[in-house]
Amino acid sequence: LTNGLALTPQMGWNSWNFFACNINETVIKETADALISTGLAELGYDYVNIDDCWSSVTRNLKGDLVPDRKTFPSGIKALADYVHGKGLKLGIYSDAGVFTCQVRPGSIFHEHDDADLFASWGVDYLKYDNCYNLGIPPKKRYPPMRDALNETGHKIFYSICEWGVDDPALWAGKVGNSWRTTDDINDTWASMTTIADLNDKWASYAGPGGWNDPDMLEVGNGGMTYQEYRAHFSIWALAKLAVVDLRTTDSLGVQGRKVQVSGIDGCSQVWAGPLSGNRLAVALWNRCSKAANITASWEALGLESGIHVSVRDLWQHKVTNGDAVSSISAQVDSHALQLYILSPSTASYSVQ
Ligand code: GLA
Repeated sequence: LTNGLALTPQMGWNSWNFFACNINETVIKETADALISTGLAELGYDYVNIDDCWSSVTRNLKGDLVPDRKTFPSGIKALADYVHGKGLKLGIYSDAGVFTCQVRPGSIFHEHDDADLFASWGVDYLKYDNCYNLGIPPKKRYPPMRDALNETGHKIFYSICEWGVDDPALWAGKVGNSWRTTDDINDTWASMTTIADLNDKWASYAGPGGWNDPDMLEVGNGGMTYQEYRAHFSIWALAKLAVVDLRTTDSLGVQGRKVQVSGIDGCSQVWAGPLSGNRLAVALWNRCSKAANITASWEALGLESGIHVSVRDLWQHKVTNGDAVSSISAQVDSHALQLYILSPSTASYSVQ
């Protein structure tokens, strides 16, 4: 969507995967504080996004959405002011149906009033869900909120949460700044790997202004091992190019993708994608049940044969090979992933 936003993918925090409905204004404020104190804000994690359950179960007599009186007694405007005071942005959640998934009021047929209300609160981001949608096709339900948000004159990131039901990559580029490509993630290796693959299918549709959304990270929630979480974080970074060099957001905006599979059920994998400055992000991902040696050849990576590159290991934070000439390889533990950036070490380097 051309609204001046999402030139790089959204980064930040969302309440759902950890708190679900158990949210309140204190949690949101403390999270804003934590984004600053942990240094994440400085790395670009600047959205503080409230998911479902912030609103009262009924609209008021005027027909407006109202924040739950018990959990958000100071209101959303006060929260937005607090978050903005920290240099961060506030996101909110509604639904392109009559109810949200947790049966709070939805915004279908209220698009203008709700968009105006969100804008008056100073909201910077809307996640727009797909529950209780009356069977009306998403292509009919999502554009009215885009137009309503646009007409507010405020810059509001429009995140389409349609769960990939109707192949949103094919139509949402003109509607939203991102679109979910899959059903909800859960905190398991099986869910995470399935979602990585489903999202990969739509890689070519992502770019500045509109991104595939493979759902939010589960890192730290407890259901996967440290190595699995590291793989999860790495693949999400590579696929969305959010934080591949862990310092700056990549500006090229090409989604990295799976480029090579081998082993039982293709469990030995190479994922890769170009970065700005003729660099290449490469992941060697062992999804097999045993440790394995994984090799990525220049051919698989789309590099000209004979090209010289220097290889930086992003998790070890060091250059591991100053002059690789035909392939990179590593011994990778079961479910672990090695992530590298390849940079040209000769002028003739190019990514095909
Ligand atoms: C849906 C969405 C989730 C979350 C919940 C909230 O399942 O896909 O991301 O927003 O609703 O109820």
